[in-house]
Amino acid sequence: MKKLISISGVGKSSRAIEIGCGTGNYIAALEERTGCACWGIDPSEQMLSRAKGRYRKINFQSGEAKQLNFPDGFYDLVFSVDVIHYLDNRPMFFGEANRTLKQGGRICTVTDSAWIIRHRQPLAVYFPETVEVELDRYPGIAELGDEMIQTGFEDVTESTVEFRYRISDIQAYREKAFSALRLISNDAFARGIKGMERDLTTGPIQCVSRYLLLWGTKK
Ligand SMILES: C[S@@+](CC[C@H](N)C(=O)[O-])C[C@H]1O[C@@H](n2cnc3c(N)ncnc32)[C@H](O)[C@@H]1O
Repeated sequence: MKKLISISGVGKSSRAIEIGCGTGNYIAALEERTGCACWGIDPSEQMLSRAKGRYRKINFQSGEAKQLNFPDGFYDLVFSVDVIHYLDNRPMFFGEANRTLKQGGRICTVTDSAWIIRHRQPLAVYFPETVEVELDRYPGIAELGDEMIQTGFEDVTESTVEFRYRISDIQAYREKAFSALRLISNDAFARGIKGMERDLTTGPIQCVSRYLLLWGTKK
């Protein structure tokens, strides 16, 4: 969030939208820290109703990345977190983001690079079968950069954020809260859970979360 704010330069008088906002945590954090006017769109009514119940200051609307129902030049920042691999028409999304941004406005796509996917900890450590599945699902960073340039963005740059933490409770893994765990075989899943349980007997499991932020500027 710190990097999203410092690089975008969003402040009190800015407008920002999160595409695929889910339950609204990121857009709400941006509003709380900057006081900017905020919108969040998502096609899932279930996610949106949870978001609306939690955060009253955000304008949540049902919507899809490929058709943004907002005027030209409306936003200072268009961003998404962990959404780009769900989109069926990325060039249409980048085109809409470009149209709805002011001149000089920023787009930020927060996603996982191939390197991040290969070094996910604990996911790739205990469930190595998730790596190939995820590499197939996530678009490459160079491909995304090319698509952004083709839709009229310039100054395409990337940066990575990383934080370390430890877990003693693996219930979220048992419940397959991470979508990659629903895409591997039952045997691979069971092996991973067994490995986590074994290592937990000697102490908490070390984890690292990493995200790549891919930036562009509207000409
Ligand atoms: C992994 S969740 C991320 C939610 C939120 N950004 C976060 O990080 O907490 C992916 C989100 O993308 C949304 N999504 C899927 N397809 C979409 C589309 N075509 N346009 C916009 N959002 C979409 C889903 O409904 C879901 O809320």
